[in-house]
Amino acid sequence: MQDERGLWSSKFGFIMAAAGSAIGLGNIWRYPYIVGENGGAAFVVLYLIFVLLIGLPYMLAEFSLGRATQLNAVGAIDKVKPGTKWRIAGFMGIITSIGILSFYGVIAGWTFGFIFKSIAADTSDFGAFIANPLIEIGLYAVFILMTTLIVYKGVASGIEKWSKILMPVLLLIIIGLIIYANLLPGSSAGLEFYLLPDFSKITFKTVLAALGQAFFSLSLGLGLMVTFGSYIPKSIDIFSAAIIIALTDAAIAIMAGLIIFPALFAMGENPASGPALVFIVFPQLFMQMPGGAIVGAFFFVLLSIAALTSTMSLLEVPVSYLVDQKNLKRSKIVWLVAAFVFIIGLPSALSQGSVDFFTNFGLIPLSLSPPDFLSQMSFIFGDMFLTIGALILCIFIAWVWGADKAARELEIGSPLFAKFAPLWKILIKFVIPIVVFVILLGIFKISGV
Ligand code: PHE
Repeated sequence: MQDERGLWSSKFGFIMAAAGSAIGLGNIWRYPYIVGENGGAAFVVLYLIFVLLIGLPYMLAEFSLGRATQLNAVGAIDKVKPGTKWRIAGFMGIITSIGILSFYGVIAGWTFGFIFKSIAADTSDFGAFIANPLIEIGLYAVFILMTTLIVYKGVASGIEKWSKILMPVLLLIIIGLIIYANLLPGSSAGLEFYLLPDFSKITFKTVLAALGQAFFSLSLGLGLMVTFGSYIPKSIDIFSAAIIIALTDAAIAIMAGLIIFPALFAMGENPASGPALVFIVFPQLFMQMPGGAIVGAFFFVLLSIAALTSTMSLLEVPVSYLVDQKNLKRSKIVWLVAAFVFIIGLPSALSQGSVDFFTNFGLIPLSLSPPDFLSQMSFIFGDMFLTIGALILCIFIAWVWGADKAARELEIGSPLFAKFAPLWKILIKFVIPIVVFVILLGIFKISGV
């Protein structure tokens, strides 16, 4: 990420940074458990439709607003429509990123802890691991600290250089694991669950979960891609870059499912195990494998780095707002925001068995989310807030700033986009706002709020 207002030096660098934010635990941890909870293949079909018809066009909208204004989301909205209520979309993004970071950091802490669990060939029960408050809070603290140090020192570009090398390695391991998992006896039932859709399983809740996951996984709805867009030089073809980012992100999620579901059925585990799912399945897979301790440790190192490039971008949202708009000192504000996030995340860290109150929190109806505090945060911020934020920002870009202006911005550097511009305008002006609105309405109806 850029510290002062600079520009990405190359299209590749920009794609890597945006993909670094998008690719993370959302693909490898959240996606499989949400698929498992929502009945499998039918959800996957919905998710892919949403990525292509809503996520990708909406991502273009965030990029275009950012590049045209050269500002973060709040600043960009202010520049287009000074002093109006539309700023709320920017503020929602700030609140949402804090909310997401708080529970995401807990899971990132598990990921980090599993590096050592793998090396030690520690096969103790996962339930006991996450129900230990000291381990939970300790790992969570370490991960938030690492994120804060990176954002504080502005060494993000160094991390990005490393991810350029390491993320392809993660991809290779994933491909190897797909082959291994699908050779296990009993795995084909998992493939069926994952790939043969049964559309009778689709409910309003499934539809929102698929939409929320599409936004979450692509890091959309927070205005983060507005900020990223503000660093894109005019010469870069945003359209093709966004296609690459969205497709890579979806492909990695799909691949994670190709490991998890076959392995899970071969091991007789339950697909609806909630947030713990991949932490139950992956270690068992590594345990059976020759050299599994090393492969496992390496896998969790890479996953931690993927998580770190996402948490960095999440922390950057409130920090860059406070630095740019409020003229606060970056070096101080980073620590304050991080401390605030850390406190908000404590109930999530304690919600996996260590404190009964948070484990059975259940503020949101059970028909929408499991009762533990972490799952409920993931639903409120990772699905609802994100989706509502995206709706407001989409309407702002399409109708207040204007879809024509946005399309013109996207055409700069991208002759190909001109062909798609009419379709894109229809999507961004009508299809996306209407579909998202109807889905949100349905959720309020079934939740009885
Ligand atoms: N997209 C990230 C992931 O899938 C999570 C994230 C969401 C990051 C929103 C930034 C903003 O892991």
